[in-house]
Amino acid sequence: MTSIPQAPDILSAQFATDPYPAYRVLREHYPLLHHEGTGSYLLSRYDDVERAFREPVFTSDNYIWQLEPAHGGRTLPQLSGREHAVRRALVAPAFRGRELRETFLPLIERNARELIDAFRDDEVDLVAQFATRLPINVIVDMLGLDRADHDRFHDWYTAVVGFIANLAQDPAIADAGRRAGEELAAYLHPIIQERRAAPGDDLLSRLCTAEVEGVRMNDQDITAFVSLLLSAGGETTDKAIALVVRNLLAHPEQLAAVRADRSLVPAAFAETLRHTPPVQMIMRQPAEDVTVSGGTVPAGATVTCLIGAANRDADRYAHPDAFDLLRSDLTPDTAFSAAARHIAFGLGRHFCVGALLAKAEVETSVNQLLDAFPDLAFADGVAPPDAGVFTRGPRQLRLRLRDRER
Ligand code: HEM
Repeated sequence: MTSIPQAPDILSAQFATDPYPAYRVLREHYPLLHHEGTGSYLLSRYDDVERAFREPVFTSDNYIWQLEPAHGGRTLPQLSGREHAVRRALVAPAFRGRELRETFLPLIERNARELIDAFRDDEVDLVAQFATRLPINVIVDMLGLDRADHDRFHDWYTAVVGFIANLAQDPAIADAGRRAGEELAAYLHPIIQERRAAPGDDLLSRLCTAEVEGVRMNDQDITAFVSLLLSAGGETTDKAIALVVRNLLAHPEQLAAVRADRSLVPAAFAETLRHTPPVQMIMRQPAEDVTVSGGTVPAGATVTCLIGAANRDADRYAHPDAFDLLRSDLTPDTAFSAAARHIAFGLGRHFCVGALLAKAEVETSVNQLLDAFPDLAFADGVAPPDAGVFTRGPRQLRLRLRDRER
């Protein structure tokens, strides 16, 4: 007789070290579990998580307490229905198509090059010296702000992300987050007035002037959206860059294939999003009682959708724990659109607005790093582990840039 394993605790040290064995137990034995520590219902199977993202009964009202205090205003993730559609239409064009290709891709290439050119030694920590810098520098440049303020934004970003992740309610972290929000608002307000009076070609001017069905963004909406960009577009993409590079270096034969054929970079990113998603969990709050995986979640309860678990569901993917950029059950062509066959960018109406921007940043980073360093390797020969529960990636990625034997 096989015994049923104990229900995993997603706040345990063991889970933080490696959540994937716990995800398997959840999928196989506890597809709907009330978790005491977070006071929420856990969903782990692909079909259930997909349903929670697609069906409007699973509202995103949880962001009222999760995000609004951090950003000092209401932002896209917490909106619904028509209001969400109109607000999303105000910002979405800047993150796709010609706008992205012609206006913003050159900014990404320039910033990646500058960071790589600043590598002084034969060894770098790619997380500290590149991954946490690039997405923020790109956002500052997209907004048309002073490039001399890259470091300031990096500090604000660190404080805002710390505030959102402050599950233990550390007062020092909460104060730093609030202070950063006030400083960011004070910094942006005069610039917003200038751009309203004399709009330029930058994203901030576009946010100031965009209008959909008579709706425009006021100063507070714009400040809150910029703050959202720092967290939603910063921490996620910085982890993604480090994860793709780590996963490729950990699989030398796949790295060799990518070096030989750079059209495989999007597949390497798509498989990284499935295998080791930077955002591991997202919440929802059902408006009515809902039945899922044989149980009931009461109206108003918090549901934790385990993206990291859903993306390794054996009912969906062959050998789900293997990193395989050539797998046939993931299609890189759709991996960055709402038709994606993974859940790393969410699905449905809140599908990540920055998915194509993230793709451009990751592709540029991987290509430039591979071009600059033909012998790129882990500094001490082993792949570093990931850390983090809500978002997850290597805390450090020490790389040896050049082979000293050559
Ligand atoms: C690999 C990098 C990224 C990952 C893994 C990621 C992940 C996600 C996920 C899971 C959601 C859905 C949230 C939900 O349904 O509640 C989301 C939404 C969002 N993302 Fe991303 N994201 C990434 C990059 C970016 C970038 C670069 C930006 C912009 C600069 C961005 C901006 C947003 C925004 C504004 C939303 C809210 C969309 C809405 O509510 O309609 N993200 N992202």
